[in-house]
Amino acid sequence: MTAFITGASSGLGYQLAKHLSTLGYDIIAIARRGDRLEKLAGEIETRLTPIVADLSVESECHRIFDTVRDSDIDIVINNAGFGLLGEFSKADLSREMQMIDVNCRAPHILTKLFLAKFLEENKGYILNVCSVGGFMPGPLLASYYATKAYLVSLTRAIHEEIRHSGKNVYIGCACPGPIDTEFNEVASGKAKIKSRPASWVAEYCVRKMLARKLTIIPGLEVKLSAIGAKLLPAKLMMRMTYKIQKKKL
Ligand SMILES: NC(=O)c1ccc[n+]([C@@H]2O[C@H](COP(=O)([O-])OP(=O)(O)OC[C@H]3O[C@@H](n4cnc5c(N)ncnc54)[C@H](OP(=O)(O)O)[C@@H]3O)[C@@H](O)[C@H]2O)c1
Repeated sequence: MTAFITGASSGLGYQLAKHLSTLGYDIIAIARRGDRLEKLAGEIETRLTPIVADLSVESECHRIFDTVRDSDIDIVINNAGFGLLGEFSKADLSREMQMIDVNCRAPHILTKLFLAKFLEENKGYILNVCSVGGFMPGPLLASYYATKAYLVSLTRAIHEEIRHSGKNVYIGCACPGPIDTEFNEVASGKAKIKSRPASWVAEYCVRKMLARKLTIIPGLEVKLSAIGAKLLPAKLMMRMTYKIQKKKL
């Protein structure tokens, strides 16, 4: 059994790899920091194949797939992603474009390529790591929330298409709230808000994925904000989100 995981060098991806390894999966781990992937290899019992790649580069997504296309892969987790805190009018445009490439373009390409393989094989799981931010606009983290909305929408639509095909292939989206990872630091956040441990979120997401749940929301507080996004007026949600994100600045 083999699981392919992007962004496995830290945070949630690292813990997803460790947890899947305890379930007996060999791991194919993708990230830019090869030293971190080597460290992960030393911490798990199953085999780890590291692939050092920059997912913001389109040709790298194709190169990664070509490297593993003949492998017997059971699970693909598009987990790599990052955010950028601050006002939209002041945010660095090239960093935002890189974020769109990593958070949207890379999972889009990898989902398409692996989905074709899985449909042919009539098996396989694809889990796209989105965010509860994908359900609402996110002032002060605007582009990031928008990237996650893209991925939630894409994933749900593909789920319905697969259902009609009758194939034994799963796709779903994990939509966590705050997790204790390097995310905040990478997003240039100065202060942390209350977060769930990455190991807990990883175990929860894998369990629900294997149970073939379409939308995976780890934690009661996160479920409540997802419900809030559905039921409360959009303006109220945006005001609340602004306040929460402002605390991180
Ligand atoms: N932390 C949260 O509060 C939170 C909440 C909801 C959703 N999420 C989502 O969870 C996922 C994992 O994030 P995290 O919280 O675990 O953050 P993290 O600790 O910063 O991990 C991000 C991972 O993405 C990889 N990555 C970033 N840019 C990349 C690139 N250009 N090419 C290849 N890999 C790249 C990083 O690897 P390298 O730097 O080594 O390349 C790292 O392994 C993300 O999709 C994030 O949006 C996080």
